[in-house]
Amino acid sequence: MMRCASLAFILAGVMLSNAPAQAQKKPPQADLEQCAHCHGDEGIARDTEVPNLAGQNEAYLVNQLRAFRSGARRHPEMRFMSKTMTDAEIEAYAAYYTALKP
Ligand code: HEC
Repeated sequence: MMRCASLAFILAGVMLSNAPAQAQKKPPQADLEQCAHCHGDEGIARDTEVPNLAGQNEAYLVNQLRAFRSGARRHPEMRFMSKTMTDAEIEAYAAYYTALKP
């Protein structure tokens, strides 16, 4: 019994320590769903005032999210969405949307 419990504990620890690496590959689904409200499930926006993100250049997306975060590019909604993003999260969003079919 003791053994099983500590094994579960170790596994949980391994999974937690892997979380940042996974987040870099693909942002959490719950976060992507927030973006999808405006940018669409596949990175193609339904509203004409919202840009498509699918297939966009990765470095460009990184730069735009950093600019929203710093306030250099002004936009209330995107400022709100980006203000708590880490650099790793920004890179993960950029990589994710770049890989989608335009
Ligand atoms: C409330 C709607 C809304 C949500 C939610 C939203 N966005 Fe945006 N996003 C916009 C709009 C509108 C623009 C265009 C801003 C402008 O006109 O300057 C934009 C612009 C962008 C751009 C720049 C695109 C370009 O071509 O310059 C990126 C990158 C981006 N959003 C990523 C995201 C990510 C990642 C999320 C989720 C974390 C997200 N957005 C959530 C509305 C939204």
